[in-house]
Amino acid sequence: MYPVGFEDARVEDGELWLRGPIFTARVQARGPAWRIHVFLRPEDAEKDSYAIVAEEKRPVAFDGRVASAPGLPPLALSLAPFAFSFGVFHASGLFARELETWRGVERVTLDPLGVKNPVPPTEGLPLGGGFELWLEERPERRYFGLGERTGFLDKKGKRYTHWNTDDTDHEEGTDNLYQSQPFLMAVQGGEATGLILDETWRTVFDLARSDPEKTTLFTAGPTFDLYLLPGPRPRDVTLALAELTGRPPMPPLWALGYHQCRYSYPEEASVRAVVEAFKQHGIPLSAIWLDIDYMDGYRVFTFHPERFPDPGRLAEDLAREGIRLVAIVDPAVKKEAGYRVYEEGRALDAFIKTPRGDEVVGEVWPKPAVWPDFTQERVRRWWGKLHRFYTERGVAGIWNDMNDPSVFAVEGVDGELPGIGKTLPPGALHGKKTHLEVHNVYGQEMSRATFEGLLALAPERRPFVLTRSGFLGIQRYAWVWTGDNKSYWAHLEMSIPMLLNLGLSGVVFAGADIGGFSEDADPELLLRWTWLGAFYPFMRNHSAKTSRRQEPYAFGEPWTGKIAEAIRFRYRLLPYVYTLAEEASRTGAPLVRPLFWAFPEEEPAYQVYDQFLFGDALLVAPVTRPGQTHRSLYLPRGRWQHWWRGTIHEGPGWITVEAPLEEIPLFLRAGHAVPLTEPRAAKTAFFKPLYFRAFPEGQSHGAVYLDAGDGQVPGTRHEALVDAERRAFKVPRGARAFIQRPEGNVIWLD
Ligand code: GLC
Repeated sequence: MYPVGFEDARVEDGELWLRGPIFTARVQARGPAWRIHVFLRPEDAEKDSYAIVAEEKRPVAFDGRVASAPGLPPLALSLAPFAFSFGVFHASGLFARELETWRGVERVTLDPLGVKNPVPPTEGLPLGGGFELWLEERPERRYFGLGERTGFLDKKGKRYTHWNTDDTDHEEGTDNLYQSQPFLMAVQGGEATGLILDETWRTVFDLARSDPEKTTLFTAGPTFDLYLLPGPRPRDVTLALAELTGRPPMPPLWALGYHQCRYSYPEEASVRAVVEAFKQHGIPLSAIWLDIDYMDGYRVFTFHPERFPDPGRLAEDLAREGIRLVAIVDPAVKKEAGYRVYEEGRALDAFIKTPRGDEVVGEVWPKPAVWPDFTQERVRRWWGKLHRFYTERGVAGIWNDMNDPSVFAVEGVDGELPGIGKTLPPGALHGKKTHLEVHNVYGQEMSRATFEGLLALAPERRPFVLTRSGFLGIQRYAWVWTGDNKSYWAHLEMSIPMLLNLGLSGVVFAGADIGGFSEDADPELLLRWTWLGAFYPFMRNHSAKTSRRQEPYAFGEPWTGKIAEAIRFRYRLLPYVYTLAEEASRTGAPLVRPLFWAFPEEEPAYQVYDQFLFGDALLVAPVTRPGQTHRSLYLPRGRWQHWWRGTIHEGPGWITVEAPLEEIPLFLRAGHAVPLTEPRAAKTAFFKPLYFRAFPEGQSHGAVYLDAGDGQVPGTRHEALVDAERRAFKVPRGARAFIQRPEGNVIWLD
């Protein structure tokens, strides 16, 4: 144990430097957050960040106890040679109690571990480094964020590892999955504080699990780089996180429509048959996806010559119907003499190496395989350019999978490596860095290469990349799906808190496989899941090779018609979804939001995990179990209109509503207006016709963002104002507004 401590504090160049007998720390006011970066080796003062993009530094002043910077609440620091604690002052947030008893009491202490550290000795580091921060726990404090997680909404009471892992068998109790977002939103007394542990090494957050009095943040790496996001509202923390880690670029309109996928549609005829069936049933479709069987022997950047003889013509025919083609691209490159991608990569010295300097050779879909080192800029540039192969053939989007990275076997190593799962060996080298250090950003750097490549190849288009793996900041490059779920009701239900916490962690464009990936869907499950999916930011139905077919028409009538209605509803709602997408790309606000995010003063809003807000205006309460005819739900304060019945309900409180198979319980918030259109795959986001459905309380406010639906030309956000009393309204030209009466009739306001 080497306690962190400092005896010297000096402001240099607008930041505070703390120096102690062993460690050094830099305290910065970085954009909207305090950063405390503790390290041992001088060279770690400037460590790479894969997460943080905010450059802005505010000048820090220090009076010996309290650091201050413009626009940030003061940061109190307690300095002693072998003890260090700190706290942010704000009204009643995370460190509120610490404030009262601040004098001399170590409330937040930073201790490096050492002996317990699983990391092999690193040069210059006592016992390999590793740090642990502990926070004194509060019974009323709750935790959210932590990226892609199983379980319920509030994360307290469990231990969470960040180590990207391909887990096809995850359940409620599973710890780490494909993504790592080492970010926490701590809320108490209605006020929120964010914590980012900007470390790519394995990190572990123990949220009052091992010790109910204590929460600990551990990193296996040689530095401890912490950001404190002061809030105080949950919304402030979210916006600050977005400022620090980047906002997602505006997606193309088609990406917000319905996607159909399967492992696999293995040849051209099967793709055309699916598209034809959608047409026959009048179901709108925005994209059809090609899984690994389109390739020639799992060689990335190839099409199988017989099964897909002319992919360009296929893409062209689909484009005429308004349907895009998306192709999977995995990181592993088949190691084979004469295969262009392998030869080019080898010539460029692009592949990950063993400490002896040989290529790391292993197996995944292709065997034998090697892995590009996407942490190198030259490798990313090369990989990005390779995508010309797809863009030239009319492929509109790229799907990055197995980039955790998932490795079935490595030459010379049997089975799984202890403690690190089916991935590359810990000592594999990415330039000078070991795999242990950059494992968690492998997928992110791959998606970055893909995104930047697509943008360079077609600057007039908005790139669309989907990834399974990522780190904090992945939203800058890709959307995320939650990996291999199952056709279980429990997985339908679990997708809700999973997507809510992903959204709070910056990953606002995400979805789970609708219908479930493995196991067999039944029609009721698929119907309820498709309704829920109509409110996923990313709406894709995907299933495994061995599972029962689950396209929307797979179960025949009466199911097909009902499932088609759920998909059509998504298209009706598209102007609203698109407007939320624009807001997300401008501010980082998630599309799907837990109730507490908008109603932090309401206690039940923190526990409700199976309901969510869709933007400001809609509350969704999906049915998550079979055979249910009713749904009990919580309405926050204010008045809410039942979307389908028009009845008006007063919150806060619990109500029970009917939930027939044909509809999802959905509520429109008083004072809001939602833009809608006709249910079809629109070519542009100028949306014609355009309606606003309003629930006026005095006035109703809404907005719609209109543009070409793709490209870089900025569009216009039109604010809408609907006033039922005077029947006056202000909406974009050509648009109309209406009110739904409880009796079922619609009143047009013109
Ligand atoms: C992985 C993916 C899954 C995909 C399959 C084949 O299991 O998670 O979505 O269908 O690989 O590529």
